[in-house]
Amino acid sequence: MACETLLLFGATGDLARRMLLPSLYALHADGLIKDCLQIVGTARSELDDAGWQDFAKKALEEFLPADRKNGDLLATFLERLKYQPLDASKPDGFPALAEKIGDTSGGIAIFLSTAPSLFEPTIAGLQKAGLAGDNVRIGLEKPLGTDLDSSREINDAVAAAFPEERTFRIDHYLGKETVQNLLALRFANMMFEPLWNANGIDHVQITVSETVGLEGRVGFYDGAGALRDMVQNHMLQLLSLVAMEPPADLNATAVRDEKVKVLRSLRKIDSDSAATHTVIGQYGAGASKGEAVPGYVDELGKPSDTETFVAIKAHVDNWRWQGVPFYLRTGKRLPNRQSEIFIQFKKVPHSIFAKRGGRLTANKLVIRLQPEEYIRLLVMAKEPGLDREGITLREVPLDLSLTSAFAGTRRRIAYERLLLDLIEGDPTLFVRRDEVEAQWEWVDAIRAGWAANGMTPKQYGAGSWGPSAAIALTERDGVSWHD
Ligand code: BG6
Repeated sequence: MACETLLLFGATGDLARRMLLPSLYALHADGLIKDCLQIVGTARSELDDAGWQDFAKKALEEFLPADRKNGDLLATFLERLKYQPLDASKPDGFPALAEKIGDTSGGIAIFLSTAPSLFEPTIAGLQKAGLAGDNVRIGLEKPLGTDLDSSREINDAVAAAFPEERTFRIDHYLGKETVQNLLALRFANMMFEPLWNANGIDHVQITVSETVGLEGRVGFYDGAGALRDMVQNHMLQLLSLVAMEPPADLNATAVRDEKVKVLRSLRKIDSDSAATHTVIGQYGAGASKGEAVPGYVDELGKPSDTETFVAIKAHVDNWRWQGVPFYLRTGKRLPNRQSEIFIQFKKVPHSIFAKRGGRLTANKLVIRLQPEEYIRLLVMAKEPGLDREGITLREVPLDLSLTSAFAGTRRRIAYERLLLDLIEGDPTLFVRRDEVEAQWEWVDAIRAGWAANGMTPKQYGAGSWGPSAAIALTERDGVSWHD
């Protein structure tokens, strides 16, 4: 039987250069993909096979760590690459693409990393050229729409050719090792689950902060903003994994069923609550990593009301999480790049140390996803001594550095896992249609709430933690952001 083809749309794009080609090289180098799998790239650029191979070679030189570079492996990897120029907005180029692929009996895994406006014509073209049969799967890179309606349109267009079980919607956060580890932490250990609810947990914070600004993505970002770029997908996925009930096992349906239940339990934030439960900001000029940087509108070159920062107080209205706030915060040009989940446990019901001067703080769990990967439990301990003047208790960390615990293991890029799952047809780490739509529904209500309240982003200096209102959002509840 013929071997499978990986068909990459957007083959000369930034994602291909930075992430997809290095990930595919890693799968090749580790012997994880069959020798006969061919990788066919397509984009508008008028390249031939050699031209794309050269593009790939340069990308790998730039983005592979030095210890992963290997001349022989590079040569055999490049041999897999073929290229067909294509204007995906027009149907006439697709037959030539089909010809380039050749025998399709081994199946095709398609990865669409193009503007969503091209999804519909691409799918029509694929169908006409006989490239959407039963043995073809399609992976879709975000953004999948800008609201519920446009996301439904895209999903309908895809569904016309690909049933849900062959549609793989990508959220690269789900491919991150520490995000996977969240499941292990919760469901492979006995000690957390009994406390993992409104009885044991006071609140949850999820922060994804970035130091970068627009990064040249002018057209895309200004039409999206932080809520749609980061919260609708990555942050709601993190929230779902923190809040979901234990699935019966790790199969795709079980895991996604539990996540979607959380999304559907999110309390709606609308025109009544948008002003009290959300804060939006836009960075002005300031400093990033010690260097002066311009404000958002200067980078953009025109006035804009797009938010580059958003903080939200969310609630999951179900039995487990009643009354537990989930504070979410993400933004560009913040002081550092960090993604973390912070769990604040409740205080002990009674302190036996109070009369001896011992002051208690409640336990905390920090799950740091990046740049470092660690899990840190903050527990109370007594300072050594005879305690004649009273007992001194201090918060000390129980640290699990995943990087050192698994020092011999290479940390993989999220796309390595996701591309392999797409090639092998495992949908567990991909987002199901009902999940995406539940995410959009929640996010759309927030945006409508902003519009109804005339809310526009408050300025914050680049290099700060966002507008001061974001601090007030938690301080009102007696809570501080964990920095
Ligand atoms: C992308 C967003 O989905 O995620 C970007 O479009 C953001 O704006 C990026 O920078 C963050 O991903 P990571 O893996 O660097 O945290």
